[in-house]
Amino acid sequence: MSDKRPIGVFDSGLGGLCAVKELRRLLPKEDIIYFGDTGRVPYGSKSPQTIIKYARQDAEFLYKHNVKLILAACGTVSTVALDDIKNDFEVTMFGVVDDAVAAAAKATKNGNVAVIGTNATVESGVFEKKLLAAGTKSVISCACPLFVQLVECGFTNRDNEITKGVCKTYLSQIKESGADTLILGCTHFPIIADIISDFLPGVTLIDPAKETAAHVAKHLSKNGMTSDEGGGTEYYVSDDGTSFSASAGVFLGNSEKIKANLVNI
Ligand code: DGL
Repeated sequence: MSDKRPIGVFDSGLGGLCAVKELRRLLPKEDIIYFGDTGRVPYGSKSPQTIIKYARQDAEFLYKHNVKLILAACGTVSTVALDDIKNDFEVTMFGVVDDAVAAAAKATKNGNVAVIGTNATVESGVFEKKLLAAGTKSVISCACPLFVQLVECGFTNRDNEITKGVCKTYLSQIKESGADTLILGCTHFPIIADIISDFLPGVTLIDPAKETAAHVAKHLSKNGMTSDEGGGTEYYVSDDGTSFSASAGVFLGNSEKIKANLVNI
């Protein structure tokens, strides 16, 4: 049996493409529908009510495309909105928190884990609560909202002085804390992982989208929901797709020219 329905993935913008990259690697025969809410990014500086409203609309858009699973490939949605919206749809919804927490709890040697994310993610305290429940000794969290803009604007080269400077400002406290593991709690952040790593040598970085994509692949296989033909990805955005298309390759890890369809949600 083959389940040819697409997998739905959404994010506030480009960051969720990191999950698409990983899903395509693990599940090359799955069709994927991606929605990036580029007209309303960033989510991380908005109130929980607004984030929940946007996330519900994003999921609804994907649900109408008869998807077999929805992945909220956004740290902000996963921490702030997922619990409120996941029962509204008759498909399984994944966020990016639980698998990242499990991976960090496994990776840490000294029990000290750090989390970076948007303001909304850090204020939610969700990563912290789950890490402590998973046996982590201490958690230090730091909001890094400018990273989202830097990534969306393409300031991602390893030697970019501006991003390096922002990194130093945001991450010095984490460096001093002695945390040996860092969760990149926003799906935009893996794009600047090498800059973060250069500032925090020896710290294990956890990419939530990557961990979650592996879980999605297992879930589909365990439930007989994999597809044996397909492999295409359709992209939808809520603002002009030109800059999305221009930057998508950085997230997808290739030079593919993609077409982003504009939708009103
Ligand atoms: N990718 C979103 C996240 O993981 C980006 C942040 C935002 O929209 O502020 O949180």
